[in-house]
Amino acid sequence: MKGLILSGGKGSRLYPLTFTNAKQLIPVANTPVLFRVIASIRDAGIDDIGIVVGSTAAKIKQAVGTGDRWGVNITYIQQDQPLGLAHAVKTAADFLGDDRFVMFLGDNVIEGGISPLIAQFANSEWNSQIVLTPIDHPEDYGVAELDDDGRIKRLIEKPKHPPSNLALVGIYMFDHHIMQAVNEITPSWRGELEITDAIQWLVDHDYSVHPYIHRGWWIDTGQPGDMLEANDLVLEELAYKIEGYVDRESEVGRRVTIQRGAEIINSVVRGPSIIGENARIVNSYIGPFTSIDHDVIIEDSEIEHSMVLENSQIRDIPARIQDSLIGRNAVIKRSPIKPKALKMTVGDNSRIGIL
Ligand code: G1P
Repeated sequence: MKGLILSGGKGSRLYPLTFTNAKQLIPVANTPVLFRVIASIRDAGIDDIGIVVGSTAAKIKQAVGTGDRWGVNITYIQQDQPLGLAHAVKTAADFLGDDRFVMFLGDNVIEGGISPLIAQFANSEWNSQIVLTPIDHPEDYGVAELDDDGRIKRLIEKPKHPPSNLALVGIYMFDHHIMQAVNEITPSWRGELEITDAIQWLVDHDYSVHPYIHRGWWIDTGQPGDMLEANDLVLEELAYKIEGYVDRESEVGRRVTIQRGAEIINSVVRGPSIIGENARIVNSYIGPFTSIDHDVIIEDSEIEHSMVLENSQIRDIPARIQDSLIGRNAVIKRSPIKPKALKMTVGDNSRIGIL
């Protein structure tokens, strides 16, 4: 069985973070979402993984490399235009050949433990397996309608009036029949070849599509609020460990991970939270549900329920920072230069909330 990860897409709803980086590389609990996806596929026993890339190809290739870090072999497949998930499958035809495969969206974060489900499909008789989960706003996703016996009746992409609350999670398993399906369907109202329509084609042509209902959490990380929510959930799953330095004046809670080379000086860190490699936390408070990425400096400040990405600095801030997503190489500090005012250089489409 092979793995196919879709990692094209510009991530425009996550601007400005995605002006300079691919959305699949934004870290959740200090690990890029895409790395989590690679590890889940590897844990299902799959070592041949294709990644479909688009305009952010260079960033993805630079971050992921050959795959040897995970013990897998990565093949990059260029998709020239983002014409839909089914179009991505078409683009990957040479890589996939006649093999069964799992397709995983590179921006989906799902509760740990999905790997056995993928491995099980390898030896099953099914032509496809899809993952469904009950959610509050199914109209934003592909939605499945099941019959009384739990079999798929119908699949619709982003319906105005959803027939159920079961959304299609971005993990799909197929055999080679999906190739015929993606070649037969036509573009949707949004001009894309929808994987939902291709699966409907399989159902209509009496191929077996097994719906698995996932009962844990799942987040499609489209927007900043989704990133923070995914961060909360992944932090709760972490196996906590202290590999950095904590001085005697500091107080570090039980559910805290401190990565190599990090230093906690005269500070309080409450979990669940993670402090990245070579980060420095000095005279500060790091509250629950916070991820501080590598080489970040936090000094004389308080922050909780937030994510601070690599190389950023927060110094001497008089109010607690909360519910915030701070990008890479950002500097937030008090300025001694008169006049006393808020002075900012803020990226396009940023959001700043002042007290
Ligand atoms: C895509 C699929 C949709 C699925 C969702 C999961 O939506 O088209 O059926 O529910 O991924 O993340 P898109 O991200 O293209 O809006």
